[in-house]
Amino acid sequence: AAPTDYEAEDAQISQGAVESNHGGFSGRGFVNYTNVTGSYVEWTVPAAQAGTYSLTLRYANGTTVNRPVDISVNGAISANAVAFPGTGAWTTWQTKTVTATLTAGQNKIRATATTAEGGPNTDKLTVDAADTEKPTAP
Ligand code: GCU
Repeated sequence: AAPTDYEAEDAQISQGAVESNHGGFSGRGFVNYTNVTGSYVEWTVPAAQAGTYSLTLRYANGTTVNRPVDISVNGAISANAVAFPGTGAWTTWQTKTVTATLTAGQNKIRATATTAEGGPNTDKLTVDAADTEKPTAP
């Protein structure tokens, strides 16, 4: 299946706000995490089959301080304190990819800030089947 985008502004947000004051985002805006530990964005992502998927977060961090985020899938930590270092400006968006195991059906993918800075401004999550699951070219 093709990579699928899930906008942060359409996800469930705990301690954060949808904003659009820094350009370059997709969709209607991005999520500005509240600057507290534990703020999160949670996407509901369907997977046709269980397996390994790549999860790519598009983000901006206009500070020089890393904003690590725990990635959990259905309540279990999948990637600990993934680094979201400064991107140089709030309008400069970069991506960070982790791999995770998803179950068939709906998956709750949550990105939770682990420091008092909160998470980076987050534009979207892109989910794709991991390379190992893709058919090999002839
Ligand atoms: C600024 C910026 C926000 C950002 C915030 C932060 O206020 O405009 O987009 O989220 O800093 O440090 O988290």
